Amino acid sequence: MKVGVVGAGFVGSTAAYALVLRGVCSELVLVDRDEDRAQAEAEDIAHAAPVSHGTRVWHGEHSELAGAQVVILTAGANQKPGESRLDLLEKNADIFRELVPQITRAAPDAVLLVTSNPVDLLTDLATQLAPGQPVIGSGTVLDSARFRHLMAQHAGVDGTHAHGYVLGEHGDSEVLAWSSAMVAGMPVADFMQAQNLPWNDEVRTEIDRGTRHAAASIIEGKRATYYGIGAALARITEAVLRDRRAVLTVSAPTPEYGVSLSLPRIVGRQGVLSTLHPKLTGDEQQKLEQSAGVLRGFKQQLGL
Ligand code: 2OP
Repeated sequence: MKVGVVGAGFVGSTAAYALVLRGVCSELVLVDRDEDRAQAEAEDIAHAAPVSHGTRVWHGEHSELAGAQVVILTAGANQKPGESRLDLLEKNADIFRELVPQITRAAPDAVLLVTSNPVDLLTDLATQLAPGQPVIGSGTVLDSARFRHLMAQHAGVDGTHAHGYVLGEHGDSEVLAWSSAMVAGMPVADFMQAQNLPWNDEVRTEIDRGTRHAAASIIEGKRATYYGIGAALARITEAVLRDRRAVLTVSAPTPEYGVSLSLPRIVGRQGVLSTLHPKLTGDEQQKLEQSAGVLRGFKQQLGL
């Protein structure tokens, strides 16, 4: 099982490291126009292989992506403090226009996993640049993890027992689907009540803020986010390579909304196998439509 990672910056390298530690693939190639960086990262990560799962890790040109089943696209500029993900659109769209055709030439059978921002719009662009090839965006898989983490923290349970989906844009207009959130198999409000924990607008607003603004606050503190997204990318890649049928809030073209955005989707060998439409309250549905509207505006700007 072979995976390619295009872009050996913080996100690409951390994703590669997470893939090696999880033993997701047997071969992993890092590609970056900064060859020295790709070489150094590949070498450093390769040293983790003998003490984990023995993955063969190397760096190379785009042609080395041949035979990859998944190619993760992390190339492009990332947010600076105070910038939104949408501010990166023009710059990263230009990079994708150059990069995606080279990737599809080398690895025409790979599932393309887009993570560069703004991820929803770049997923749409990559879909157009790679016709016939499955494309998924990491979307709000990370935001859903942040939501679950904060809910679990408040509930006093470990994060694997809190379930909740973040829908729409991976960005400021995203929607936390509170109406379907669960802790330990119980609706979140019931769980909190049973545990005598406060559960009110103030707590929900705090969790919403912590989820929505997590990236901005981490970027303020250390200039970039990479551990959370690295683990999310390894999880999505594993779902594809092992045909797991995992339910993940990845981004993909969604005809009902006229743009790529995140909904819970069943992910397996062919990428997105099907899309789920959780029952939402009127308010959540309206916010999801607004989020799609924001993305459609930028999509138009991109001429897609
Ligand atoms: C994140 O949410 C910046 O999109 C990146 O961590």
